[in-house]
Amino acid sequence: MPGRNANLTAIPMSDFDIKRLVAERLGENYELHEKYVNPTFVKVLRTIGFDKVYARGQGAYLWDKEGNRYLDMLSGFGVFGIGRNHPAVAQTIRDVLDLDLPNMVQMDCSFLSGLLAEALVRRCPPHLNAVFFTNSGTEAVEAALKFARAATGRSKLAYLDHGWHGLSMGSLSIMGNEEFREGFGDLLEGVQVPYGDLAALERALSGRDVAVFAVECIQGKGVRVPADGFLPAAQEICRKYGTLFFCDEVQTGYGRTGKFFAFEHWGLEPDLISTSKALSGGYVPVGAMITRRAIYQKVYHRMDRCFVHSSSFGRNNLGMAVGLATLHILETEKLVERAATQGEKLMAAINALRAKHEVLLEARGKGLMIGIEFQEPRSLKLKMAWKMIHAANDGLFAQMIVMPLLQKHRIITQVSGNHGDVIRVLPPFVISDEDIGYFVGALDDVLSDCHKLPGPMWDLGANLVKAALANQRSQPAAPVAARA
Ligand SMILES: Cc1ncc(COP(=O)(O)O)c(C=O)c1O
Repeated sequence: MPGRNANLTAIPMSDFDIKRLVAERLGENYELHEKYVNPTFVKVLRTIGFDKVYARGQGAYLWDKEGNRYLDMLSGFGVFGIGRNHPAVAQTIRDVLDLDLPNMVQMDCSFLSGLLAEALVRRCPPHLNAVFFTNSGTEAVEAALKFARAATGRSKLAYLDHGWHGLSMGSLSIMGNEEFREGFGDLLEGVQVPYGDLAALERALSGRDVAVFAVECIQGKGVRVPADGFLPAAQEICRKYGTLFFCDEVQTGYGRTGKFFAFEHWGLEPDLISTSKALSGGYVPVGAMITRRAIYQKVYHRMDRCFVHSSSFGRNNLGMAVGLATLHILETEKLVERAATQGEKLMAAINALRAKHEVLLEARGKGLMIGIEFQEPRSLKLKMAWKMIHAANDGLFAQMIVMPLLQKHRIITQVSGNHGDVIRVLPPFVISDEDIGYFVGALDDVLSDCHKLPGPMWDLGANLVKAALANQRSQPAAPVAARA
């Protein structure tokens, strides 16, 4: 190959063979993690029966080592919008490698990052016209916070309770879930606004010392959809007091809610947005913070400040290429529209089960960002069982739904938050009508088991309570594996 160092191509690769490694050692996952990574997570996965060894993924499915197929209704916390292992993204990655492109020269302006910035700005409203690239969602949030502070000269941050913006220190400072902040010491000065409380927001901003108000247009934790007037009014209050309005689109962006960005549902004009997850095509970590040019230039306002916010891997070729490919696929396969129509079908079909299952409160959300909430049953026997489970831990009931969905029906879902009776489904946008039917049938079956008391589902609940109590001796927490 022209330009390639002949000596390097001659080095045999036989002593490193990733395919052989996978073939020989796949299955050691949990032992390796127990030993070298996070044994507590391993313990939780084992307790809830999620210690599967997945060997392959395609579209909306995963297959385990034994060849069983699973329907992935979580898509890696929303990463796999276009589905797993999309062939066009895989080909793009191969093509980039074949081109031997210069990568991370740093002292240049890389071509692919320019192209992706152009493509992103084209898909944004005109005022969002300047892009900062990152390697993750939390870094995109960090960028938004820093840019907002630089642009306003203020340092305080405002955020909503139950908000979830990532786990690095800046993002953690606008975390609305106490359990994630606990133990990490002092954070940036922030003010938490009760969800939906415009008067409290006005009070928080009226001192004119708050740089930015951060929201997820639909909160990941609990899948909370705001009342229609809330976000437009919040934006107005921000404008009134000179606070920048920041929509965190890390989870909701790139079609998840049935619009390209969730802020479009309410015709908002955020000053800053953070994005990541689905932009990756499910292959290469990438994120983008997009803002007004005037805000951007407040950070890089002198030549000696041209690097003042930057990172080594931001703008790397593979991240940029998968971003470009993903935007193309979203458009050509009409996946944003598909997320809207499939989401409506899925929510309607779940809500139709309410007539049969008193424990089912509702399915809510927009597009394919859906929360399924359960409620205390009315019948006496079930009510008592419900109360017993909740006395032990208020996240356990949702766990009792998630576990048989996996064990009995091979469907991956997740409890949404450590507290509350909500499970979250975030399927890939490629989900078919057949998949929707399969999921709803499985949920119907699991909820039917709820009516059997005694029965396997409540036995499972009792076992979870026992595990929680045993665990409480060392750590006061139940085996509920939850994130936003
Ligand atoms: C709304 C939101 N913001 C930020 C993040 C953090 O992204 P990451 O996990 O890539 O750091 C997440 C991740 O779940 C998220 O949902």
